[in-house]
Amino acid sequence: MLYPLLRNSLFMLPPETAHQVSMKGLQLAHSLPMIKHQLANRFQYHETNLAKTCFGLHFPNPIGLAAGFDKNASYLDELEMLGFGFVEIGTVTPKPQAGNSTPRLFRIPDQKALINRMGFNNDGVEIIAKRLKERKEKSNSKLIVGGNIGKNKVTENNDAWIDYCTNFKVLENVVDYFVVNVSSPNTPGLRALQEKESLRKIFAELQNLNKNNKPILLKIAPDLEPSALDDIIELTNEIKIDGLVATNTTLDRSGLKGLNMERAIKIGAGGLSGQPLLEKSTGILNYLHHGIGGRIPIIASGGIFNGADAQAKINAGAALLQVWTGFIYEGPSIVKNICQSLSANK
Ligand SMILES: Cc1cc2nc3c(=O)[nH]c(=O)nc-3n(C[C@H](O)[C@H](O)[C@H](O)COP(=O)(O)O)c2cc1C
Repeated sequence: MLYPLLRNSLFMLPPETAHQVSMKGLQLAHSLPMIKHQLANRFQYHETNLAKTCFGLHFPNPIGLAAGFDKNASYLDELEMLGFGFVEIGTVTPKPQAGNSTPRLFRIPDQKALINRMGFNNDGVEIIAKRLKERKEKSNSKLIVGGNIGKNKVTENNDAWIDYCTNFKVLENVVDYFVVNVSSPNTPGLRALQEKESLRKIFAELQNLNKNNKPILLKIAPDLEPSALDDIIELTNEIKIDGLVATNTTLDRSGLKGLNMERAIKIGAGGLSGQPLLEKSTGILNYLHHGIGGRIPIIASGGIFNGADAQAKINAGAALLQVWTGFIYEGPSIVKNICQSLSANK
């Protein structure tokens, strides 16, 4: 009820400032035991009827927070308080990166969309791993944490596998699963790594290191042609890939109409997320699910705002779901609302 008012105020700030202000506010709320308790009660979904086991991990509910929201693993306790079944940190790179120059995050409120060209701004794998280790030591939280990993901007594509392996080694004991991100549109050339031989090399090297069998998933772009999707489907037969995340943001602006299209042209480069991405990413999910024949689980990401969107993803073959833009527009009740709706449809 209150969130639309709060959102109006937050939307008066530049998007990145609004993000920082909200997270600091949540941090404060989390530090006050009475408020923390009330927020947890209000936002967490306490039933166990949506719990599920996927790639060997137990998820209390299927709604996760997608990568790029808590890039540095700084707010995991606060996000757990809001009821997320899992949180994917990152994208993490071996060396810290400042990312692209600002402004680099833009709202298109009429269509409940965002455009971003952040460029993997993050503290670097060593600092992030230390933060996760310290959290693990002092809390008994059961929150499932995924580690979304990428390469530094300065790393040549030929050497990209080394960056993925470095991230893996440093994060191995502090995350529950990994996602290989080769699908961000904001690191020049990164998406070329979605080509079959590059993926084969990265996954072969990672699985070689993976003595403890950590689940390693692949996150793909919604802009791939069917032939490239077929290559990925084939690759899942040839090499161990434990799951897919479908999808990242899109370069395609055709989901935007009229004035929003003009605004998007003015904004320029970046990945589009939110409502205009829903149909496209669900189509890709459906294609992959049929191609893979349900052999490995797929996490759906792209345009999920409510129970109907979530159900559409499940119908298309999703095992788990992630939100990002929906969290900005719908607010912290998004997890519980979706869970209640899925539960009513069960
Ligand atoms: C500001 C912003 C930053 C993002 N950063 C990352 C990232 O670092 N790594 C990644 O794999 N995806 C990143 N994403 C993509 C999201 O994880 C998600 O896949 C995408 O936004 C589609 O979901 P949505 O429509 O619910 O937002 C980012 C998205 C946004 C809006």
